[in-house]
Parts: sequence; structure tokens; C-alpha cells
Amino acid sequence: MAEPGWDSWLATRATVRQRRGLQREDTAAAGLFDLSSNDYLGLSGHRDIRQAAAQAALDYGAGASASRVAAGTLPVHRELEAGLCDYAQRQAALVFSSGYTANLGVLAALGGPGSLFILDAHAHASLIDGARLSGAEVATAAHNDLADFTRLLEANCSAQRPKPRVLLVVESVYSVFGDAAPLPGLAALCAEFGALLLVDEAHSLAATGQGSAVLAAGLAGHGRVVSTATLSKALGSQGGAVLMGGPGAVALRDHLVNTARTFIFDTALSPAAAAGALAALRLAGPQRRGALAENALLIRDQLQAHPAVAGHVEAGAGAVLSVKMPSAGAATRAAETLAAQGISVACFRPPSVPDGISRIRLTAHAHHGHPELSAAVHAVARAIIQEDS
Ligand SMILES: Cc1ncc(COP(=O)(O)O)c(C=O)c1O
Repeated sequence: MAEPGWDSWLATRATVRQRRGLQREDTAAAGLFDLSSNDYLGLSGHRDIRQAAAQAALDYGAGASASRVAAGTLPVHRELEAGLCDYAQRQAALVFSSGYTANLGVLAALGGPGSLFILDAHAHASLIDGARLSGAEVATAAHNDLADFTRLLEANCSAQRPKPRVLLVVESVYSVFGDAAPLPGLAALCAEFGALLLVDEAHSLAATGQGSAVLAAGLAGHGRVVSTATLSKALGSQGGAVLMGGPGAVALRDHLVNTARTFIFDTALSPAAAAGALAALRLAGPQRRGALAENALLIRDQLQAHPAVAGHVEAGAGAVLSVKMPSAGAATRAAETLAAQGISVACFRPPSVPDGISRIRLTAHAHHGHPELSAAVHAVARAIIQEDS
């Protein structure tokens, strides 16, 4: 029998997790056919990136040794920021130690009394946490619902209740559903209400057609559109960034350098990760992105060809494809069945699913050959059907 206090509390939490089918494991997926990682372009193991990372570690050391505002800024950080600006056609960039800290940093730096953040209901945990930390008033709009964003703007920006600083917070491609935010409509709303738009490009930078959803929407030079990105997904490295455009970009970057706590009070991005991401930018061109889009389409088409599965497949906009499962237990069992067959898929269950519906999530990869990918998708369909029957 567990002791009262911490031990019994931990034991109770574990029992509840097990009973609800929510137990997570940090088991290694190495060696499995990869339909779960975010290494969309297969760059993390690319020779050029390994070499760039290794060379930077030799040149600068294993770590950056200090915060960027102490002694931690290295030439490779500046080169990476210039490279990101070129790649995404933005005017200024600031690199953080992860995508998570980039989101926390920028949101907290833009918050405080007098600001209102309107988050999409499916915003990533790092955006929610950043909003909570920021001290801003926080409202939630229904997922991808422009009318609901408009309603909240109208309710909060009336003459009786003026809000000087409003920020809309969305993901370009949603990490769980794989669908895209209506960026042009959101940017138009921002122009109408004098708001800023924060777009988390974690699943679109280097992973969608033009390399950036903000760029593809014609918003890269827009001063009211700020993006965040991770260097840990399509760029195959580690780290995060805030990207800014328009005439106010330099002032905003300066504000972040001076106020973003996860920039100031965090050791700078490791030189190896920075150099790896920089090398990845050179490799993440239209050819690899085109192969990724083709494989994402193949996965979607093949799953939808199974009548018993088609109704569960969300129509993804990027490389993320989400399949609804009847329960958390069914999602877990399907993922386990597939792992036993040598295929790795992600299993999303509460609290990672904003709508409480458990899912299997498949991610496409540019480097998969069509025959092996088809065979794996066929196995996925069988596992889903088995759990659904
Ligand atoms: C939408 C989104 N934002 C931010 C992050 C955090 O990025 P990182 O893993 O680089 O911290 C992730 C990664 O899981 C994500 O999916």
C-alpha cells in the first residue's frame, strides 16, 4: 500500500492514466518505418547537416556557454538568422533554443496589462502556455472560425471597451488535425481591427509548397504578421525562431532581445544545432518539398480508398494526416499493432487533442519510396479497421 502524500498521489495518477488508456511511454522508435517523426524532409541524418553540426561543435564547443545577451551570441547565430530571413523572405529573425521557448518568449514579451490574445481553440500547448505566462487577457476562438474571431474582436474592441493591443494566435498547419489556418482572412481582420497576427509555422516552415505558409499567403512583408518556427522538424536540427516582416521588424526584434525572458534567461542555441539548421536551409528546396507533398497526397488518397477508414481521415493541408479513433485505448492498440509490424505512427490522446477525440497521426516524409510507403499505409488502414470493427 502506497504511503500517503507524494507517493500515493503519484500512484493514483498512474492508475487513472492506465484506466483511461492515457499512459505514455518514451520508448525508442529507431528502426521502425517512420510515419510519426517531424523529420519531414529526412534531413536530420543528412551528411551535410551532420558535417556542419560537427564542424560547429569543433569550432565553437558543444554548447554556447551563455545567454545570447551575455556572452552566448556566436557568428553562427547571426548567419542562421540571416539565412532564415532569406528563406522565408522576412526582414528580421531571432533564434531561440527551441520552438517552445520561441513561443513562450514572444507571447510573454507582447503581453501584459492592456493586451488581449485571441487563441485558436486548437493552438499548440506552447502557445497556450505562452499566453498564460504573458499576463494578457486571453480569449479562445472556435477552431479556424473567422466569424468567431470577428465576434471576439468586435466584442473586445468596441468604443466602450477599447483594447489597444490585440494579438490573434494561430498555427499555419495544425499539429494534431493537419489542417491550415485561413491566413489571408485573419490578416484582413488584423488590418481592420489594428491587431497583430502570430502564426506558428512549426509544421509549414520548409514543409509546405513555398517553404512558408506566411510567404505563400503573400504576408511575408506584412508588418502585422509575426511568425514563429521550429528548427527541429523539417529542418532536421533543434531550436526555434521568431520571424518578422515589414517596417517595424527591427524594432520588434529589439523588443524581444530586451524583454523575451526565454531569450534572456536561457543559454543560447547550441552552435551545432544552429549550424545544422543553417545547412538544412540550403537543402530544403522545392524538390524535397515537392516530394513531401506528393507523399502526403499518396497517404491521404490510399487511406481514403478504404471505405471503412475514409470517414475518419481529416483532410490535411501539409504533411500531417490525422485519423479519428473511437477511443484512446483503440488509438493506443492500433499504434502498438503497427509498431509490432515495424511501423511507427503517433498516437494522440487527451490532453494532447484539443477536442478530446483520440487520433492516430501520420506524417509524410520526402525520402520515402512509393512502394514501401504504400505497403505501410495499407498496414495502417488494416490496423484502424481492426480497432473500428
Ligand atoms: C505547433 C508547434 N509549435 C511549437 C512546437 C515546439 O517546437 P520545439 O519542438 O522546437 O520546441 C511544436 C513541436 O512539438 C509544435 O508542434
